[in-house]
Amino acid sequence: MPSAAHLAAPASQPFEIRPFAAGTGAEIIGLDLAQPLNDSDFARIHRAHLDYHVVVFREQNITPAQQVAFSRRFGELQIHVLKQFLLPGHPEILRVSNVVENGQNIGLSDAGKFWHSDLSYKELPSLGSMLYAQELPSEGGDTLFADMHKALEALPAELRNAVEGRKASHSYTARYNEPAINGYQRPTLTAEQLAQVVVVDHPVVRTHPETGRKALFVSEGFTTHIVGLPEDESRQILAELYRYSVLPENVHRHSWREGDMVFWDNRSVIHLAAGCPAHLRRTLHRTTIQGDAPF
Ligand code: SIN
Repeated sequence: MPSAAHLAAPASQPFEIRPFAAGTGAEIIGLDLAQPLNDSDFARIHRAHLDYHVVVFREQNITPAQQVAFSRRFGELQIHVLKQFLLPGHPEILRVSNVVENGQNIGLSDAGKFWHSDLSYKELPSLGSMLYAQELPSEGGDTLFADMHKALEALPAELRNAVEGRKASHSYTARYNEPAINGYQRPTLTAEQLAQVVVVDHPVVRTHPETGRKALFVSEGFTTHIVGLPEDESRQILAELYRYSVLPENVHRHSWREGDMVFWDNRSVIHLAAGCPAHLRRTLHRTTIQGDAPF
């Protein structure tokens, strides 16, 4: 028989949640994700994720299995279509990396070269992603996050009226073959991979399923056009929406530190990888949690 002590929930960890000054993003200090997490600590983290949209867990030292297990507490994990870049032994982890070994890229080198919300090209786009630093460059390599609730609030009434109630199409291949950074060439998608990334339509203005807040849900990375509008008009409106999406006052820039794991809400923000000099190595491990169908 297990003793009562064995059945007790893990003790709470005395961690602090410190919001960043600009309102988007917060850092979590003093939490060790390698230790078991009780329900009340988990609830605090969950709340911070909803309130700040981007949470940075500092000074972590966790294994891939621990990253996967923690990510799973938020929902089912999505497996990326580029199977060649999944971490061996851990298909739930996408390697984001510019490192070349034996003449082959070990990860997706240019993930995030355009603003996007992860997997918006799926029927069930991502709830959130966790990106865990493995090897960081001494210069550059930042990730930028833009608050899409604030973007929606910033739209002039005429523009908001033009898109509210409309849908937009999202495609993984929207910009897949565009000129690569640093000469990197993305792998040609197989017929099987293409079949997994068919075009989907989602509302241009979505409702966050947990907070009820409305957010803009288009991005230059994956959105191809607004359904039902002539091509010229759609292009013009999307360009305006993209401009409002990344107003500098609504963008948070994350400069990576060793031990950082960043967890963002793909229903509330879009993100962009700022890039780093080609000769510097950069590797991070990403898990991607499945969300609901946008409404
Ligand atoms: C991503 O878009 O998931 C990667 C972002 C980054 O590499 O900074």
